[in-house]
Amino acid sequence: MDTTALFNLTYGLYIVGTMDGERPVGCTINTCFQVTSENPTLAISLNKNNYTLEAIKHNKRFSLSVVAEETDNMIIAIFGFSSSRTNDKYEDFGYDKLSDAPIVKGTFCSRLVLDAVNFVDCGTHVVVLGRLVDAVKETGKPMTYEYYHRVVKGKAPKNAPTYVKED
Ligand SMILES: Cc1cc2nc3c(=O)[nH]c(=O)nc-3n(C[C@H](O)[C@H](O)[C@H](O)COP(=O)(O)O)c2cc1C
Repeated sequence: MDTTALFNLTYGLYIVGTMDGERPVGCTINTCFQVTSENPTLAISLNKNNYTLEAIKHNKRFSLSVVAEETDNMIIAIFGFSSSRTNDKYEDFGYDKLSDAPIVKGTFCSRLVLDAVNFVDCGTHVVVLGRLVDAVKETGKPMTYEYYHRVVKGKAPKNAPTYVKED
């Protein structure tokens, strides 16, 4: 089996946000897709070690900010390479609230707010199914995962479902 065949799957980039009590938490993900158009439902895949998953399990509401090519790369890095368990990831950027979910300030294509309606155990990761409760279109060109690697020269940590070990 040639698992490099998986490299041809395409993705975007997203910042997940949710409240942990009074504290905004969240992380960077590339795994998100729309599952239904009627009663729009989306799926995201979160590593079981990610604090964001714990917080979404408690407080079902979460946001997805669709990363643009114009988004500050530091947001992708801070949200993707540190944990909300110990860090305030919003400290340097600030945040607003959209339908009670935190959205990190900055340039993003869209802001979506969802309520988790199902959690599917997939071993190392949990697929969270979220029902759309709010959506706002903003500006910018959606950043693809391929652009993130090729132009931004970004990497993905072990917890990303699409992580590839470097030799
Ligand atoms: C480009 C990129 C893509 C990522 N994709 C995912 C993903 O789809 N699912 C996931 O669980 N983690 C993904 N991660 C890793 C999490 O963002 C990272 O483990 C983060 O530190 C978790 O933070 P938390 O503990 O505050 O939830 C990705 C990171 C980067 C930089």
